[in-house]
Amino acid sequence: MIELSRGDLTAQEVDAIVNAANPSLLGGGGVDGAIHRAGGPSILEECRRLGGCEPGDAKATRGGELPARWVIHAVGPIWRGGQQGEADLLASCHRRAIALADELGCASIAFPAISTGAYGYPVDLAAPVAIAATHEALAAHPSVERAHFVFRDDRTLAAYRAALNK
Ligand code: APR
Repeated sequence: MIELSRGDLTAQEVDAIVNAANPSLLGGGGVDGAIHRAGGPSILEECRRLGGCEPGDAKATRGGELPARWVIHAVGPIWRGGQQGEADLLASCHRRAIALADELGCASIAFPAISTGAYGYPVDLAAPVAIAATHEALAAHPSVERAHFVFRDDRTLAAYRAALNK
C-alpha cells in the first residue's frame, strides 16, 4: 500500500524514514539537513562509521530523537540528462530501502522525493520510476506493509499522484 501526502518527513510516525543522502553520508542540505537537525547528532556519529554509500544503495542508522526508529540513508542519482543510468539507480535506491526496512523488521516506511531537489531529477520523470520500484519492492517484501511518500510542495505531490493513478 502506497500513500502520498504533503508534510515534513522528519515528523512522520513510521518505523523508518528514508533520507535523500549523498555518497559521503556525512550530511547536506534539503531533507538530509532537516533529518540531521531534527534527529540530533547521534545520526551523524553513526553515519561516520558506515563508510559512505554508492548511488542506488542504502544504509541504515537509528533515528536518534526522531519519531521514526530508523533512518535509511538512500543515495539517488544526480540527473545528467537521463542517459547515464539515472532511472535504474533511482529505482534501485527505493528497492534497497524497502529490503533494508524488511531486514530491520519495519512495517512502515516514509520516503521523500529522492533526487528531485539538489540532484535535479525532473519530478515528472522521477515519480513513475519511484512509484513502480516501490510497488515492486513492497510486493517482494510483504512484511513492509505501508510506504508513505511525503512532499514539501503541491507540484511534487501532483506528479507522484499522477504516477500512482496510472
Ligand atoms: N520533508 C519532506 N521533503 C523535504 C523536506 C522535508 N523536511 N525537506 C526537503 N524536502 C524535499 C525537497 O523539497 C525535494 O522535493 O525533498 C526533495 C528532495 O530534495 P533534496 O533534499 O535536495 O534531495 P536530492 O535531490 O536527492 O539531493 C541530495 O542534497 O542535501 C543534499 O546531502 C544531500 O547531497 C545530497 C543531495
